[in-house]
Amino acid sequence: MLSTLLRHANIWALQTFDRDWIDYIASNTMTDVNRWLNDFIWTYDVKAIVTQITPQNDNAVTIHLLPNQHWRAYQAGQYVQITAEINGQAHQRYYSLSPMADDGTFSITVKKVNDGVVSTWLNSQLSVGQSLKLALPQGDFVYKQQAKVLFICAGSGITPCYSMVSDLLQQQTPVDMQVYAQFSQAKEVIFAQDLAQWPNQGVPVQLAFSQATQTPSPVLNAQNLLTQYPDLLERDVYLCGPTGFMDNIIAALVAANFNLAKLHCERFEAASHDYQGALDFSVTQPSIYFKHINKHIQLGVQDEGKTLLAVAQQYGVNLESGCQKGMCGSCKLTLKEGKISGNQLGQAVYLCTSYPDSAHIVLDA
Ligand SMILES: Cc1cc2nc3c(=O)[nH]c(=O)nc-3n(C[C@H](O)[C@H](O)[C@H](O)COP(=O)(O)OP(=O)(O)OC[C@H]3O[C@@H](n4cnc5c(N)ncnc54)[C@H](O)[C@@H]3O)c2cc1C
Ligand code: FES
Repeated sequence: MLSTLLRHANIWALQTFDRDWIDYIASNTMTDVNRWLNDFIWTYDVKAIVTQITPQNDNAVTIHLLPNQHWRAYQAGQYVQITAEINGQAHQRYYSLSPMADDGTFSITVKKVNDGVVSTWLNSQLSVGQSLKLALPQGDFVYKQQAKVLFICAGSGITPCYSMVSDLLQQQTPVDMQVYAQFSQAKEVIFAQDLAQWPNQGVPVQLAFSQATQTPSPVLNAQNLLTQYPDLLERDVYLCGPTGFMDNIIAALVAANFNLAKLHCERFEAASHDYQGALDFSVTQPSIYFKHINKHIQLGVQDEGKTLLAVAQQYGVNLESGCQKGMCGSCKLTLKEGKISGNQLGQAVYLCTSYPDSAHIVLDA
């Protein structure tokens, strides 16, 4: 009873007063008693209350969240780290953010994966009124002002694309965008209403089913990519989906002579890129120049086998990073000179999962 009243009071306060003002009041009255009475507002942590849960289909839900005063603005396509407390254990996972609504809420959409600890818990155990601990929004999979774009997504990979398309549709200047959305079958479709509505708002949508005999549009492959999208080479492609799907699309793009500098990817599963050890550090110790921040580092024998991100951090070069598993793209830089091994797409290097492989390396933003 008391906790329900408190929750309603918190929701009212957050939807009525400026967040900075709440932050000012809370930080100046941060006593043990206040923290004990109301640890949603009197806290230094970013938290959010679950205000609504809506099913997308049998295996995916959209969870609407109202964050506390520590939350900050973000770009469509970015994601948030969520901490789920399950049986006394804390689990961290990432979920893409929908654009923020006028009432201060945002949503995440979670697809249940087989034997998935957190996605199953979020789909079947989480309830309205619970609060979740979050980190601040992050990620580089955001629209970068290109004139023509194509979103290619599959399964839960539609979530960041949904966010970018929804956001771009609100903007004054229309952007030439197209969407290819693939699911295993009709009953697995996420954001079905939006996908049906977008063509009326000027965004052509091709919906395809990989495991059904009847599919509204053909499943994309190397043979039909250019037929389906004749102006493909003029577009920037935003790609997100399961690993196998992404690898097939990347191979199809390469076969179509697509410029990989115009490809923007986000992966939901960790990319495994173990150190192959092509360079012998006892003979050659690489130097790395981070051109965009004008920083040089000289590696030693002890750095063999360490990722580019790890050596940068070790030598005091502050770079953006997120998942540290080759998924989110936050650490991505462009290779200007030299050679690296590991997670590279065209000239794009994912520093957290790649390794120096020549005497001199130049990286730029
Ligand atoms: C930047 C980023 C944004 C993300 N955004 C979303 C989102 O908006 N919606 C969403 O549903 N998920 C999203 N994810 C994936 C999400 O973070 C979790 O990995 C996913 O929910 C599975 O977690 P789990 O605890 O249920 O599975 P786990 O218990 O961690 O894994 C169980 C099994 O499933 C496999 N697995 C893990 N993740 C996936 C996956 N995504 N697809 C298929 N198999 C998987 C694992 O290899 C393992 O075998 C995102 C991931 C990243 C990195
Ligand atoms: S891809 Fe996420 S930090 Fe490198």
